[in-house]
Amino acid sequence: MTDLAQLQSKALAAISAATSMATLEELRVAQLGKKGVFTELLKTLGSLPPEERKAQGQILNVAKQAISDAIEARAEILKIAEINERLGKEWVDVTLPPRPMYKGTLHPVSYVIDEITALFAEMGFAVAVGPEIEDDEHNFTALNFPENHPARQMHDTFFLKGTGNAKTLLRTHTSPVQIRTMQENKPPLRFIAPGKTFRCDSDMTHTPMFHQVEGFVIDKGIHMGHLKGCIETFLRQFFEVDDVPIRFRPSFFPFTEPSAEVDIGCSRTGGELKIGAGKDWLEVLGCGMVHPNVLRNCNVDPNEWQGFAFGMGVERLAMLKYGIPDLRTFFESDMRWLKHYGFSALGGAL
Ligand code: DAH
Repeated sequence: MTDLAQLQSKALAAISAATSMATLEELRVAQLGKKGVFTELLKTLGSLPPEERKAQGQILNVAKQAISDAIEARAEILKIAEINERLGKEWVDVTLPPRPMYKGTLHPVSYVIDEITALFAEMGFAVAVGPEIEDDEHNFTALNFPENHPARQMHDTFFLKGTGNAKTLLRTHTSPVQIRTMQENKPPLRFIAPGKTFRCDSDMTHTPMFHQVEGFVIDKGIHMGHLKGCIETFLRQFFEVDDVPIRFRPSFFPFTEPSAEVDIGCSRTGGELKIGAGKDWLEVLGCGMVHPNVLRNCNVDPNEWQGFAFGMGVERLAMLKYGIPDLRTFFESDMRWLKHYGFSALGGAL
């Protein structure tokens, strides 16, 4: 038995001296593997007389277990040591300045949303948000889209799960934020809601995901003059052209009455688009007076409160202001494009 005790203490010493998982595995195979020292010893039990076999078998199994426990305990220590070594080697100094080659830029969509937010903040607008996964109730029904009305088909909706008003979908516009904000807050309200919107449409001028900014004002005595003044102030400042002609054209949206589309003047001479006085018009946003049904749907009394709303496409405004010709390039993540059209995080255009 001295032999066995020696074998065991030798094995245990080797295990506690192992400095890598690979060495430890080699030791496990050598001691406990199919042809390992202890496995071979167990095989010799057969030749012993039965009474000795039992006692010897127990001793051997205790030794085996001790070795197996020691391997496990050592493995734990080695794993932690390996992790610590990797952590030591793979650290990155996040305080180092980026190499100029990899300097990032603000995407025009982010930049234009920031610009729009800043301009409306000066007019007292807060920023509201809503979920991108909406339900039929908020995206359509509460916004006064009648059941089975063709206006529902105007939006090529990505429908998700569910039925009826609880049917979920990817919001087709930011207008449902009007509903959610009215449900959660009492008027007066004045906010914009920038965010992602989704429609099942893809060609030169449409991408399945795009961005809108919704605007919403509810107060007492609000009329179209307020809407017109607000939109004109915004457009003149955004396009940085004081005398840009602005035209309100009658239109239809289920959630506003009356509704209008807004065009700005431009000229296209020599193939170059210039915002300002000229022969042509460009549509830039939709707007109108909040429909009394929308107010009622949110328990707001239309005899007491009135309001206006507007919605605009961020990519479209970015393309017009910064002369970006192709919508699809916005979402190709081409570093060269981002470098060309992107903005410095600290100071506008690069
Ligand atoms: N939700 C409309 C759309 O995506 C845009 C819009 C138009 C929003 C008029 C408004 C509005 O709030 O008053 O087509």
